Amino acid sequence: MSRYALFGQSVAKSPSPQIHTAFARQTGIPMEYVGIDVAPEALDAALDAFVAGGGRGANVTVPHKEAAFARCAQLSERARLAGAVNTLRLDEGQWYGDNTDGAGLVRDLTGRHGLDLRGRRTLLLGAGGAARGVAPALLDAGVRELVIVNRSPERADALADALGQPGRAHTRYWEDLADIGDFELVINATSAGRHGSAPLSLPFALCSDMTAAVDLNYGDVAIPFLAWARTARLRTIVDGLGMLVEQAAESFERWHGVRPQTDAVYAELRKGAPEPATA
Ligand code: ATR
Repeated sequence: MSRYALFGQSVAKSPSPQIHTAFARQTGIPMEYVGIDVAPEALDAALDAFVAGGGRGANVTVPHKEAAFARCAQLSERARLAGAVNTLRLDEGQWYGDNTDGAGLVRDLTGRHGLDLRGRRTLLLGAGGAARGVAPALLDAGVRELVIVNRSPERADALADALGQPGRAHTRYWEDLADIGDFELVINATSAGRHGSAPLSLPFALCSDMTAAVDLNYGDVAIPFLAWARTARLRTIVDGLGMLVEQAAESFERWHGVRPQTDAVYAELRKGAPEPATA
């Protein structure tokens, strides 16, 4: 039985073990997948112990995505652009790092929710690991313009620079949110509200009849942004649960060469996290 794991902090409640166990059963691949809680300073030792115990691949979540990136001998192009890794695979004793968050988001939005991303004027709120993971995939999916707005402007500038498409991906200041027009896609990639911090306060001027609102978070952390989107009477409101399942499927495929079906496990998880109501 090959061993896989999720490395993070407070991963006890993560649905990832449930998702991967369902994929393994469905595809008939014998694997074990467990959550491993580890403090940042203990990550290196924990990864070494995992390999010594037969670990073959892992997912990495907050706050370890950048540290995992630094551990990798090889990286996918999308991981390099993101500067963050959420998927590790052991190749000949060395870590290969990938980032499946962006592909997971795009697959959820286009496949499950039927959104055509092409041509959309898109607002990306945040410039941390989550934002960097999804930004390249949004550009690849054909959004017309990607406006990156972050509380600390230098992080937004660094992300825009890394993306290297100044005509399409550029930054504005958080203070300008009320004056930068409306968007066809608004994505919350901040962690506001995650550690008891205040939720975002966003102007409704960002929305039109056409706006779709997407929170990369799910569960309690996503509630304030989704409530804002409901108050704006948006027709399409999406939380991060589908992205979670799709990035897992993409990781699973990296490890086993087989793409699992995601609908059944998504439906199962959705029972415990009601669909964001749409206006
Ligand atoms: P993650 O991996 O989840 O992206 P992160 O790298 O710590 O975590 O990034 C958190 C993001 O949420 C950052 O963009 C952060 O803004 P700063 O770069 O200015 O810190 C953003 N964020 C967190 N709390 C916020 C708040 N209350 N309002 C606005 N942005 C917030």
